Amino acid sequence: GDETSTSASGSAQEPAAPGAGSVKQQISNLVALSLRATVPEVDVEPIVEVCTGKFGDYQCNNAMGLWSKVKGSGTSFKNPNAIGQAIAKNLPACDVIESASVAGPGFVNIVLSKSWVAKRIQDMLVNGIKTWAPILPVKRVVLDFSSPNIAKEMHVGHLRSTIIGDTLARMFEFSNVEVLRCNHVGDWGTQFGMLIEFLFEKFPNWEELGSQAIGDLQVFYKASKQRFDEDAEFKDRAQQAVVRLQGGEEKYRAAWKKICEISRNEFDQVYKLLDVQLEEKGESFYNPYIPQVLEKLSSQGLIEESEGARVIFIQGHQIPLIVVKRDGGFNYASTDLAALWYRLNVEKAEWIIYVTDVGQQQHFDMFFKAARMAGWLPDPKEKKFPKTSHVGFGLVLGADGKRFRTRSTEVVRLGDLLDEAKSRSKSELLQRLTENGKIVDWTDEELEQTSKAVGYGAVKYADLKNNRLTNYTFSFDQMLSDKGNTAVYLQYAHARICSIIRKSNMDVEELKVSGNISLAHPDERVLGLYLIRYAEIVEEACTNLLPSVLCEYLYNLSEMFTRFYTNCQVVGSPEEPSRLLLCEATAVVMRQCFQLLGITPVYKL
Ligand code: ARG
Repeated sequence: GDETSTSASGSAQEPAAPGAGSVKQQISNLVALSLRATVPEVDVEPIVEVCTGKFGDYQCNNAMGLWSKVKGSGTSFKNPNAIGQAIAKNLPACDVIESASVAGPGFVNIVLSKSWVAKRIQDMLVNGIKTWAPILPVKRVVLDFSSPNIAKEMHVGHLRSTIIGDTLARMFEFSNVEVLRCNHVGDWGTQFGMLIEFLFEKFPNWEELGSQAIGDLQVFYKASKQRFDEDAEFKDRAQQAVVRLQGGEEKYRAAWKKICEISRNEFDQVYKLLDVQLEEKGESFYNPYIPQVLEKLSSQGLIEESEGARVIFIQGHQIPLIVVKRDGGFNYASTDLAALWYRLNVEKAEWIIYVTDVGQQQHFDMFFKAARMAGWLPDPKEKKFPKTSHVGFGLVLGADGKRFRTRSTEVVRLGDLLDEAKSRSKSELLQRLTENGKIVDWTDEELEQTSKAVGYGAVKYADLKNNRLTNYTFSFDQMLSDKGNTAVYLQYAHARICSIIRKSNMDVEELKVSGNISLAHPDERVLGLYLIRYAEIVEEACTNLLPSVLCEYLYNLSEMFTRFYTNCQVVGSPEEPSRLLLCEATAVVMRQCFQLLGITPVYKL
C-alpha cells in the first residue's frame, strides 16, 4: 500500500526508503499505522502538525474529526479523547518517539526521542544535506519565470520574477524534482513591426552591426515608438512589417533575429550577475502550435465569434478570453494556451508554475479555466495533477511610496542596481575592517568576492523574505543593515559560527564520524529539533510556492543558535565535541538555505 502522500497523476510513487522524507512525513507514516489499528473501518489521512504548545514536538489532530465520523455507529469509543488515547497507544514501537500524551478533546502530543534527533543530525553531517530532501508528490515541473519582453524595459518586476522563480526552482531541484526553467520572453508581437522599420531607417547597414552598435535597446524602443506615434506613414510601414515578418519574409526574419539577439545579450548579463539559469523559449516558439490548438478547442465548441473576434466565454468572468483578435492575429492568451498545451503534452509537466506580478492574475485565472473546460486539467477536487499555479507578487516601491524608479531616469537598470548594492556593501566592509584593524588579513580578491556575495544577497533576500503578494519598499539602507531580518545579519551569523569552529582545536571532520551529539541542555534540544525541521520547511515552501517560509526559517534558526550559544559554552567546555557538531550542523543548514535562496555564503566577515 501507499501510506505516504498523494501520488502524481497515474505514476505510482515508489515507496520511500526508511528514514527518507521530512520528519513530519515520518511521524505521519507512524500515525497512519496507528490509525489503521485504531479505526480499521475508516479510511483517513493522518493530520500531523508541529506542536505549538510545550507538551510535545509534533501533534496528531485526527481524533476530533474521527469522532464525528464514528459516533452513533456503535463504536466502543466514548468520546474524542478516548480515540486520542487509542491513537497514542497504537503508535508502533520505534526509536523515533519517546512518548505520546493526550490533551483536551483528543490532541495527541508526541515527544521525539532525543537520541533519535541527535542521530538524524549526525547522519546528515556524515552523508550530506541531500539526505534531508523532502519527498514531493511530483516529478516534473515547468517553471515559467523572468520572462521579460524583447526591446522593452526589463524592469524590477522582472527582477522579482527572476529572483522568486530561481528560488522556487532551486527548492524543487533540491527535492529531486526535475525543473524546466522556462524563459517565456515576449519576442513576438506587433511592436516588432515598428522596431524593424526603425532599424532599417536608422541603420541601413544593420546586417553588419555587432550587438553593441545599436546601443541601448530601451532608448531605441522609445525612439521608434515616438516615430510610430507621430508619423502616419511610418506607422503604416510598421504595420505592414508585422505582416511580412509573420509571413516569414527573409529580410524581416533576419532583422527580428538581430533585435532579439541584442536583447538576449542584455538579459544574459543580468542572469549572469544573479547566477540564474534559464532556458529561453519565447512566445515565438509556440506560434506554430497556435492554429492546431485553437482548432481543437474550436471542435469542442469552446470558441465563439464575438464582435469580430474569436473568444472563449468563461464562467465568472464578464469579458471573454480573446484568442483571435479582430484583425485575425493571435495574442498573449492564444500563445499561453498553446504553451500550456505544449507543456502538458510534449514536455509532460505535472505542475506548471508561472511567476508574474499580481496584475496578471485575471489573465492566468481565465486561461486556466479555459484549459479545464477543454479537459486538459482535471477537476482539482478529483485529482491533484497535472495542475497550474500562478505565483503572483506585488510591486516594488521606492522610498516615496510610488513605483520604484532610480534617480533621474524613469527606468531601473538592473545591472546598476546590483552594482550599487555591491559597492555600498564594500565601503561598509572596508570601513569596519579599517576600524578594527583587520584589513591586513584581507586580499583584494576576498574583499571583492565578499562584497558581491553580501550585496547581491541583500537584494535577493529583501525581496524573498516578504510574503510575495505584498508590495515591498526597495531600500538599500534597510537591506544592507546588519541588524534585523536581513541577509547581511544572516551572513554575519553564519560567519560567526564558522569562526567558532575555526577557533576550536578540534577536528570537526573527525568528530562527525567519531563524536556523539547529546542534546542534554534544553537549548541544545530546541536547536536540534529546529534543525531537523529543515526538510518539512522546504516541503512547505514548495507546496505553497512561498520562498518567504524558508527565509523565516533561516532567520529563526540563527536566533535559536544565538540562544544556544549564549547559554551553552562551546569552546573549552566538557561538551565541546558535541556542541561543535551542533555548530557545524547549524552552519551546514544555513548554507543550504542560502544556496536555495541563491545567496553565496561567506565564511569570514
Ligand atoms: N512577458 C510577460 C511580461 O513581461 C510575462 C510572461 C509570463 N509568462 C507567461 N507564460 N504568460 O509581462
